[in-house]
Amino acid sequence: MILLAGSVKGGTGKTVTSANLGVERARAGKQVLLVDADADQGNLNDWAALRSEAGIEPALTRVMLKGRDTAQQLLRLRDKFDDIIIDCGGFDSQELRQALVVADLWLIPMKPSQFQIWTLDKLLELRELALGFRTTPLQGCLLAARASTHPAHDDRATLDAVLRQRGLDGFRVLNAVIHERAAYTMAEGQGMGVSELPRSDRGVRSAVAEIQSLHQEIFEDARETAAALVEA
Ligand SMILES: Nc1ncnc2c1ncn2[C@@H]1O[C@H](COP(=O)(O)OP(=O)(O)OP(=O)(O)O)[C@@H](O)[C@H]1O
Ligand SMILES: [Mg+2]
Repeated sequence: MILLAGSVKGGTGKTVTSANLGVERARAGKQVLLVDADADQGNLNDWAALRSEAGIEPALTRVMLKGRDTAQQLLRLRDKFDDIIIDCGGFDSQELRQALVVADLWLIPMKPSQFQIWTLDKLLELRELALGFRTTPLQGCLLAARASTHPAHDDRATLDAVLRQRGLDGFRVLNAVIHERAAYTMAEGQGMGVSELPRSDRGVRSAVAEIQSLHQEIFEDARETAAALVEA
């Protein structure tokens, strides 16, 4: 599967989610390729380099892609890996537009803040553009990410309500939720995924559970996702 983490807002959790899903995929025994398509920052590339330098297993393969042949490069790489995870920058870029043409699933981490909700129009426009080059459907999967852990807040439900109110075809909200937790930043700084941290801390255990749910929903329930895409 080619999974694209992409949006037009910075700092929503695209890179952290890509890194953690890469670790989960590799721990599940899959050959996964991490694609850093945000050359300006290169955060995913730097995180993966830190991981290799520290000799953390499973080792991850990574590449940086930039420019107008991004889609072509992704298609060349597709058959060499079980899964490809692409991390784009938080803005409308050539790489994002190209990746949208070849991705099987578009993951959009976001919070239900007004500024992020306003980006939905742009995301809709990008989807329409991509559909002009695709023969298969493309569904934007909103992920409530960096979500509030306050018991009175339900960021996923709020995102869902926004989508329903707007009646946006081609977008849905994933069931999994990634909350704002120190475990993510702790793992990031060591070239790890949260599931590689010691589990003594309750926050780490919660982070592991939510990343595993996301991994399950995206990759293991893939048949259901594919069916939902055909229905859409
Ligand atoms: N679930 C989380 N809990 C706590 N901190 C997080 C979480 N997700 C991301 N962060 C922190 O927020 C910052 C931005 O995250 P990240 O780099 O993943 O966002 P991004 O969407 O890739 O940003 P950009 O658009 O600039 O590429 C990072 O410092 C990261 O450690
Ligand atoms: Mg990023």
